[in-house]
Amino acid sequence: MDVIKTVREMRVYADKQRAEGRTLALVPTMGYLHEGHLSLVQRAKTEADHVIVSIFVNPTQFGPNEDFAAYPRDFETDCRLLEEIGGVDAVFAPEASALYPEGAGAQRVWVICPELSEHLCGKYRPEHFKGVLTVVLKLFAVCKPHISVFGLKDVQQYMLLRQLVRGLLLDVRIIGEPTARESNGLAYSSRNEYLTADERSQASVLWKAVTAAAGMIEDGEDRPDTVVEEMRTIIAQAPLANLQYAEVVTGDTLQPVTKLVPGIEVIVAVAVYFRCVRLIDNAFALVPSG
Ligand code: PAJ
Repeated sequence: MDVIKTVREMRVYADKQRAEGRTLALVPTMGYLHEGHLSLVQRAKTEADHVIVSIFVNPTQFGPNEDFAAYPRDFETDCRLLEEIGGVDAVFAPEASALYPEGAGAQRVWVICPELSEHLCGKYRPEHFKGVLTVVLKLFAVCKPHISVFGLKDVQQYMLLRQLVRGLLLDVRIIGEPTARESNGLAYSSRNEYLTADERSQASVLWKAVTAAAGMIEDGEDRPDTVVEEMRTIIAQAPLANLQYAEVVTGDTLQPVTKLVPGIEVIVAVAVYFRCVRLIDNAFALVPSG
């Protein structure tokens, strides 16, 4: 497994693989790898000849009061995990100055997608997706993948990245991989590390809430408010949880749904704080027709 640190080296490497006729898959991550990340790597292996994992804690997607400085980092363990699962050809782990040569604070060109960014998490993290879209475009420009794999746990991010590719005519195929979960249903997340044992066990309410909500919709409940109320009730069963949002949104525009019209696909989504640790989860549901 090659470890590549500079933009120049990464470009030469990607060009060489392409010239030799290989398809390249990129799995972008911020490191501190867990089963969720590894499931994306496994998927990438089935889709391409050559797999690149990027590890970069992107400063521009963190708000001023968020956890950029404290975000967990362990590059050696990450590399060991990737070696263990095998099949990863290269790790791209640039310094911030490589992706932001003028400094992250001096970035003057941004990618924004206002419509899809204004809902769900974007309402509470106003600059977040601008940072994500911009860094992923940079990673695509440097790593030159044919395919890139993202997790559906971050469903708004996934939909924005599909929009990025469509809107800017990028020649990259975006693949969405289902959420990998711990045995109690809690979605794997690097931020689970911050939770105490009590919080971690209570955090299964996110999964319980979204699966119950998706089940209600698929069983014919047609009032979004009732579905939201049920999610609130389930989250409230965890005394350490503080709900930020519980919503039912359309599966394409992410706009809140006022009516569960037969045949449409919707997403039920929650964001919950345990102290200052923010966790998210979601599930898809198809509104039954007739
Ligand atoms: P990070 O949070 O490290 O996640 C990297 C990828 O892993 C994302 O595509 C995310 O959706 C996916 N992922 C996280 N938890 C998962 C789980 N439990 N099951 C399946 N996939 C999961 O998302 C980011 O980093 C950044 O925003 C990034 C795209 C790298 C841009 O900086």
